[in-house]
Amino acid sequence: MSKLNNAITGYTYDDFLLVPNESWIEAKDVETRSKVSTNHELNIPVISSAMDTVTEAELAIALAHVGGLGVIHRNMTLEQEVNEVRKVKMSGDLTIRDVVTTSPDHSLSSVREIMVEENVSGLPVIDDGKLIGIISKRDIKPLITSDSKKKVKDIMTSDVVTVEDSISPEEALNIAYENKIERLPVVRNDKLVGIITIKDILNHKNYPQASRDKNGNLLVAAATGPFDLERAMALDEAGADIIAIDCAHAHNMNVVNFIEKIKDNISADLLVGNIATPEAAEALISKGVDGIKVGIGPGTICTTRIITGVGVPQLTAVSSVADVANDYDVPVIADGGLRYSGDIAKAIGAGADIVMLGSLLAGTYESPGDVVVMNGRKYKQYRGMGSMGAMTGGFGGGADRYFQEIKGHMKHSKLVPEGVEGAVPYKGTVNEVVFQLVGGLKASMGYCGAKNINDMKEKAKFVKITSSGIKESHPHDLLITNESPNYPTLE
Ligand code: XMP
Repeated sequence: MSKLNNAITGYTYDDFLLVPNESWIEAKDVETRSKVSTNHELNIPVISSAMDTVTEAELAIALAHVGGLGVIHRNMTLEQEVNEVRKVKMSGDLTIRDVVTTSPDHSLSSVREIMVEENVSGLPVIDDGKLIGIISKRDIKPLITSDSKKKVKDIMTSDVVTVEDSISPEEALNIAYENKIERLPVVRNDKLVGIITIKDILNHKNYPQASRDKNGNLLVAAATGPFDLERAMALDEAGADIIAIDCAHAHNMNVVNFIEKIKDNISADLLVGNIATPEAAEALISKGVDGIKVGIGPGTICTTRIITGVGVPQLTAVSSVADVANDYDVPVIADGGLRYSGDIAKAIGAGADIVMLGSLLAGTYESPGDVVVMNGRKYKQYRGMGSMGAMTGGFGGGADRYFQEIKGHMKHSKLVPEGVEGAVPYKGTVNEVVFQLVGGLKASMGYCGAKNINDMKEKAKFVKITSSGIKESHPHDLLITNESPNYPTLE
């Protein structure tokens, strides 16, 4: 009986509301920048789940564009995951490195053919490995029929304005405008290493909130298994800014003891999870982790709590880990169970620095998989990484997360799933979804009088509510006739 008598009560998002506070700030003026790991901050406190129906390069790019961060899942081969990381890193690169070039003796008609085939409007001219000129569609257009015998060297611009790799978008734009040119060859020791176009610079400027590294490339994180050093090192080598050890129980001491081995062999920051207790937080922090992921079983697709009887309701888990981690300045990521923007605000109010979203980002245009129509409504697949489908349908990343192993033609009946497979309504683009979520968080911060995320962590006050309180909080006593973009009703 003493075990039951001494048990603490575990609470989750629906058990509390934030209390409105004296406020001197409005939603439009709050700052949502927050630390995701020792060396990286994001403009919005949102990262995506490392799940095979949530995060591959396309979603990671879209989320980084709006200020968040994607964690590439690991239910694929090492080569495929490395490739996804590279796609994200390259997409934000101002410099196109795979440049189509021509040589001085090429005919104008062959140059035109290349331009049409490659869909480019200008080509650097290379002789003996060196950049000696540039030729554009505009240069050859008037000559192509009248004087087709002419060669590239006869009409190319030899006085080429070049730039160095380290140039900022602003500097590149100024140089391009001053010289009235559309493309800037990037050279190192007279050798062409890439090209920057005005179109790409303007594209870069379209995302002022984007999460970028010091070279201006998009930030990306990638998941690895708790003992998969080879994968961690390959992802690090490919340029992942953050590696996330993705495991259902990171307080397993074999996992804890392997952390240093991974950390010593990578330069990226290392996030580790998942845990749900202050003791586990102490154990991870003692190994020098750069961020902690919290959540055992709160997710929409999770059955861990039902199948194993283990878990801690998420608001209690987040706040008890944050009590430890905040003292060491180690970022806390609240992972799973967030259904509305209000839950994000509550997670931060309880001490989280960042939230990790699965279901809220599954079903977006950029998440992996196709849209299916059922009963006239659009859906996309969403499944737990511990579901039978993810454990048997990928490359072992699902099973491994739950300390299970797929061997040869093993029967499904030898696996014990801790997740389910389903579908979520199609939600539009990541941009649209994140706009609503961050908008709700900002409004919440306005109510709480918090000007930034740290302020929210400190100032947020909670009121415990009853089941009638929850009932009162949701719309009630009417038939909703128009669905709101931040309150889905048609499931
Ligand atoms: P949400 O609620 O955002 O949760 O959909 C996403 C998080 O759930 C975790 N996850 C799982 N947990 N069984 C579990 O118990 C599973 O099969 C499973 N798959 C994912 C994970 O932490 C994710 O970020």
